[in-house]
Amino acid sequence: MANLGSVVNIEDLRRLAKRRLPRAIFDFFDGGAEDEVTLRENRAAFERVRLLPKVLVDVSKIDTRVNIFGKEASLPLAIAPTGGISAGRAGAELILARAAKAWGVPFTMATPSAFSIERVAKEVGGRLWFQLYCVRDQEFRKKLVLRARDSGYEAILVTVDLPVSGKRERDPRNGFHTPYTPNWRNSRDVIFKPAWALEILRHGLPGMANLEGYPFSTPVGTDIVTAVGREMDAGLDWEYIRRLRDLWPGKLLLKGVERPDDAERAVSVGCDGLVVSNHGGRQLDGATPTLNALPAVASAVGKKITVLLDGGVRRGVDILKARALGAQAVLTGRATLFGAMAGGEPGAQRALEILSTELVRAMQLCGTRSIAEIGPELLSS
Ligand SMILES: Cc1cc2nc3c(=O)[nH]c(=O)nc-3n(C[C@H](O)[C@H](O)[C@H](O)COP(=O)(O)O)c2cc1C
Repeated sequence: MANLGSVVNIEDLRRLAKRRLPRAIFDFFDGGAEDEVTLRENRAAFERVRLLPKVLVDVSKIDTRVNIFGKEASLPLAIAPTGGISAGRAGAELILARAAKAWGVPFTMATPSAFSIERVAKEVGGRLWFQLYCVRDQEFRKKLVLRARDSGYEAILVTVDLPVSGKRERDPRNGFHTPYTPNWRNSRDVIFKPAWALEILRHGLPGMANLEGYPFSTPVGTDIVTAVGREMDAGLDWEYIRRLRDLWPGKLLLKGVERPDDAERAVSVGCDGLVVSNHGGRQLDGATPTLNALPAVASAVGKKITVLLDGGVRRGVDILKARALGAQAVLTGRATLFGAMAGGEPGAQRALEILSTELVRAMQLCGTRSIAEIGPELLSS
């Protein structure tokens, strides 16, 4: 197991994950679409924000708790859905769900998870959200929603930025296939990643438990992105969200909104929230960095529904910046994923601990004692 004691920040976890994983798998996690402009800019947008800290405030006690959908979370954070991750570490979804539960934050299970909706609910529990990919087969899609309902999931996040999958160029270059097909490049990688290889030998390569029995239109032996991506309903529109609202009794969120007019529309069809997201730069390259899109969306709908943000969160201070710009909370994709890849559940917990302690320190340095005190006055114009 990796030496987590030497880990100081999320980038250290990323480095450990890179060391442990075959290149094809690490790149699938780390990479973005096309020239990866949006991937880089999500991060750069956080780095550009400058703060105006308040001084001489008693910051000896800091409270990071926040209310999300009427329930307390220990941090303004939830774990984002990431599919295909058990290819990097056996049981990755369970690991992340357990870490989220231990930290008192929600975990979002992805449609293409290696573990079923029911199994994660039964084996882990905690605050569970389900991310819905709107696959073409409408009956199958409906069953996914009803399964999430019957297993007590709190929210459904409908991913709306993936009518087709983005062009992620690292994957075909690395020969990233499901099932994994060895070639010279990825075989060489595997030989040099014995810890990963032994684990995969022991547990086998993961499937997609929620999609078991799905009538795929083409064999799944092609690359992972297009295998699931090809099954997306490119005809999805607002009418479906309206119908889903009638079917789903829990909290309903759209994931992947960047425009205020779309956000207004989400309110009008009965959504309870949305995630300002560009899929971590994995879909439309050239999409606006999420932190830049956030203020207009938050000012359009932030008083009516819950506005969350993801993309590029790697520091506790990023959570503070997102709050100051109008987000209720953030979702973490790669930050917590790298933790799980680097060190299993302790690694995922270490990621959350790093983000939490950095957030507390940033709040103290900004003269803010509670999440509610973080507002736009902290921003330098
Ligand atoms: C490896 C990986 C797999 C992902 N799989 C999904 C998925 O199945 N469904 C989905 O809605 N988003 C998926 N995402 C996007 C994340 O939910 C989230 O929007 C993104 O990772 C946020 O950016 P960040 O990684 O910089 O935090 C995935 C992201 C990664 C890195």
